[in-house]
Amino acid sequence: MVMTGIGKQFPGVRALQDVQFQVLAGEVHGLVGENGAGKSTLMRILGGIHQRDAGEIRLRGRPVEIRSPIHARTLGISIIHQELNLVPALSVAENIFLGRAPRRSGGLVDWREMYVRAGRLLADLGVPIDPRRRVSQLTVAEQQLVEIAKTLSVDAELVIMDEPTAALTLEETERLFRFIRDLQGRGVGVVYITHRLEEVFKITDRVTVLRDGQYVGTYPTAELTLDELIRLMVGRRLVEKFPKEAMPPGLPILEIRRLAVRGVFDDISFALRRGEILGIAGLIGSGKTEVAYAIFGAMPLDAGEITLDGRPVLIRSPAEAIAHGIGLVTEDRKRLGLVLQMSVRGNITLPIVKQLGPGLFIRRGEEHALVDRAIRELDMAVASPEQLIRTLSGGTQQKVVVAKWLQTRARVLLMAEPTRGIDVGAKVEMYRLMVELARRGVGIVMISSEMPEILGMSDRIIVMHEGRITAEFPRAEATQEKIMASAAGRVQSAV
Ligand SMILES: Nc1ncnc2c1ncn2[C@@H]1O[C@H](COP(=O)(O)OP(=O)(O)OP(=O)(O)O)[C@@H](O)[C@H]1O
Ligand SMILES: [Mg+2]
Repeated sequence: MVMTGIGKQFPGVRALQDVQFQVLAGEVHGLVGENGAGKSTLMRILGGIHQRDAGEIRLRGRPVEIRSPIHARTLGISIIHQELNLVPALSVAENIFLGRAPRRSGGLVDWREMYVRAGRLLADLGVPIDPRRRVSQLTVAEQQLVEIAKTLSVDAELVIMDEPTAALTLEETERLFRFIRDLQGRGVGVVYITHRLEEVFKITDRVTVLRDGQYVGTYPTAELTLDELIRLMVGRRLVEKFPKEAMPPGLPILEIRRLAVRGVFDDISFALRRGEILGIAGLIGSGKTEVAYAIFGAMPLDAGEITLDGRPVLIRSPAEAIAHGIGLVTEDRKRLGLVLQMSVRGNITLPIVKQLGPGLFIRRGEEHALVDRAIRELDMAVASPEQLIRTLSGGTQQKVVVAKWLQTRARVLLMAEPTRGIDVGAKVEMYRLMVELARRGVGIVMISSEMPEILGMSDRIIVMHEGRITAEFPRAEATQEKIMASAAGRVQSAV
């Protein structure tokens, strides 16, 4: 597959300009660049979702016009989308076989066969998800695994993975890598997009770098260092580092006692102190994300008690959580994080419209200043504050989710996979903002699958396994090995 001179213009945004890209059979080709660099757009052109304005695409030496996603599939191109594209109201199996369900001789859908085949695919991936479950009940990480299973269930010559591991933990990522090796062995070409740069070095043969919609270059991965790759992406030197310093613990601000949601988690207790960053680690299905949703009032509790500043509170909805000064940064941008049909400005100021009041009238000047600052601080790739969320790149959307809560006067911030899909430069900036908030006394619960950020940013780390807390470590005593052992279910004595 060879793309040359590719150009793509959106209203007000030149997404791609004279870009070239080629993938060989049996090659894993990394595609990297900052948020908004044009990676997804380039792949959506290959997937028949967008039409290019300029350039040429050749498959096996022949020029092609890729007219639609279905056409792309018949050409042997299969995509794992960054923004998960599953149908929430359908089951896992129906999503995997959407539009190509196995049928009986009479033409009726063969449900039994469909569930069996979906179950086998998921088992191969090592995913304990019932194929009969509705997608609307799955976490983002589980949806990502279903999306992967769906892609791998078709015979393709070119498989495009747009940040497939953004929500996955180390273990699931390893399993996906074995699948990629397998595809590679069968001569399939794989495009691998990620912001986890260590993965680029682990799995890719060559890597292409985009910056601001332009082609920077293609390099054999083995000839690059991490520092060089980052410099190519951002155009300057940058070190990924964690600005967290040791802090004297403040008074408890949020106390959780024996929280339970039947079938999801049980007996969860912890206290969060002012100015503390409490990390929660655990595998997919450990219930770590759901704990945050439950505290935020987005998931009904079956048991337990929540105390804020020493006073018991009842939180039955996100609105009540916000009224109590609790914010949630979520990985689930579509469901809880953002209003896709609204602008960047509208989303950032949504939780603070009241503060900007009085009444219905928002103080415009203040609002604009605040939004401009947020865009600058997190270096968002937006054409203007009025750009609609759904037209932003995935990582830029995540930056808006974070910005939205950084503006509030929340006392407690729950952050579920806060840096999901965020590029290396903005990550450092976000960590700096988190430290800043902690310094101002905000308590932060950071739920994360990213081992480096759990180890680098937390004052204290809790590990969950199958809905229960299996370990707790102070910052100084935590290691990757200990956390992974506890996440796998081995109970460690909290020293
Ligand atoms: N439908 C659209 N309408 C307008 N602008 C768009 C549209 N889709 C993408 N863009 C813009 O094109 C640019 C490139 O976006 P793209 O999604 O390709 O970035 P990306 O490299 O995939 O970033 P990320 O790492 O954040 O996923 C961005 O500025 C984005 O806002
Ligand atoms: Mg993208």
